[in-house]
Order: sequence, then structure tokens, then C-alpha cells
Amino acid sequence: MPPLPAGPVAVLCGAGLAAASGVPTFRGPAGLWRRHRPEELATPAAFARDPRLVWEWYDWRRGLIAGCRPNAGHRALARLAGSRPGTTLISQNVDGLQERVPPARPLLLHGSIWRLRCAGGCGRGEWEDRRPRLPELPPRCPDCGGLARPAVVWFGEGLPAGSWRRAAAAASACALFLAVGTSAVVQPAAGLIDLARSAGAVTIEVNPEPTAAAVDHRLVGPAEEILPALVAALV
Ligand code: OAD
Repeated sequence: MPPLPAGPVAVLCGAGLAAASGVPTFRGPAGLWRRHRPEELATPAAFARDPRLVWEWYDWRRGLIAGCRPNAGHRALARLAGSRPGTTLISQNVDGLQERVPPARPLLLHGSIWRLRCAGGCGRGEWEDRRPRLPELPPRCPDCGGLARPAVVWFGEGLPAGSWRRAAAAASACALFLAVGTSAVVQPAAGLIDLARSAGAVTIEVNPEPTAAAVDHRLVGPAEEILPALVAALV
């Protein structure tokens, strides 16, 4: 176990955290869907070109995730959030699994697959829809009848300003920064690792496959095995 400093902890989570729950990661063989890459489907241009195809992908993922349960990694992070003051959980995941383990309330950098918003910009705020499969694809805005879209961040779009601001503040102020289950290639989220390190935090990666992220220490293994032991040493 690397040396663990006292003080605030920030945790950046990626798709690998939910792998043990059965949610496919994005990069790697299991992440492919009908031979489309996420970068080709999760964009405003893809939605403008073929909203039904994009929604079929999200609907498939919603159905899959609806059958998944939080795993020991999620539970360990919830324990950390509840037991160690000054802990900030930051998630790139849209699956909603971490939020299901109280008291974890992660900052959602990429939105939620369980929320929708009007793509036509009629002014209606986001709404929640937790049905595993939607009856109509693409779904429509209940107010204006225009196309609805998933309330997630697509490539080329900005992150939710409030969540990003709080995540960057946590990364800048923490003593320990954990990068869990992320390939650390998608910006700006991956930049939080460098931000934390340059601000003086000890940085630790938890991942079975070491990434190119510049961190101080690597705990090589699955999050669902490493996090329970790591959190036990932190609380
Ligand atoms: P990726 O699919 O890019 O990376 C998943 C990482 O999880 C890889 O580094 C794997 O080695 C690791 N991994 C696999 N199993 C694991 C386990 N059991 N425990 C720990 N780690 C494990 O997913 P992200 O880095 O989250 O963006 O991808 C970032 C963003 O790219 C996503 O949020 C999404 C995607 O396109 C948007 O939707 C905007």
C-alpha cells in the first residue's frame, strides 16, 4: 500500500468501476456495439444525422444497466464518502450505480442516462425517465413534441458547469487523488489527474491495466477488489 496522506480525498471514477456490475466499458472489445464506436454515436452530429440509431444505442444501454447492481467498488467508495470528511466523488459514468449506494452523491461530469432533455431547446428542464426500455424511439419532449435526447455529455460538448467547477476545486485542494477504472484519455475529465498532481496531491491509479496517466502510484487490479482494502486503510 502506498503512503496515504491525511486530508481531503478526491476520486475520479470511470467505466471500469462498473465493469464488475456487468456494464461494458467503452474502450476494448466488450465495449463495441454493432461495430460503432462511442465517438461515432455520442456526438451532436450523429444525433442530427440519425436520432433513432443514437437512441437505439442508449436504449440498449439503459436496458442492460437496468439489470445491473452496484458492486463492492461502489460500496467501498460510498463508505469512504460517508466516513472520511472532505471526500469528493467525481464520476464520468452515466449509469447511476454509484448514486444507488447512500450516502454517495458523486459529481456527474457526463450526465445521467436516466435523464432526458428537449433537443429542440423549448426551455423545458431535464426530466427523469427510469423505464429500462422506452416505448417510442426516438422519444419526444412532452412539452413541445420535438425530439428528446439523453441528458448526457457528447463529444464536442461542454461539461455541466457546476459539476466541473466543484470537481476542479476538489482536485486542486485534495491531499490524495484516486483515478479509478478510467482509461484517462477523455478530456477534460482526465485532466483532473494532472491538476491534482500539480497542486501537490498524491495520485494513485486503480486499474487492472496501467494507463498512460502520470500518477505517483499504481494499484494494479480490479476496483472491486482493491477499493475495499484501500478504503479500509483510509477511514
Ligand atoms: P474506458 O472504457 O475508456 O476505460 C475503462 C477503464 O477501466 C480501462 O482503463 C480498463 O482497463 C479499466 N477497467 C476494466 N475493468 C476494470 C475493473 N474491474 N476495475 C477497474 N478498472 C477496470 O472508460 P472511461 O475512462 O470511463 O464519455 O471513458 C471515459 C469516457 O469515454 C466515458 O465517460 C464516456 C466515454 O466515451 C462520454 O460518454 C462523454
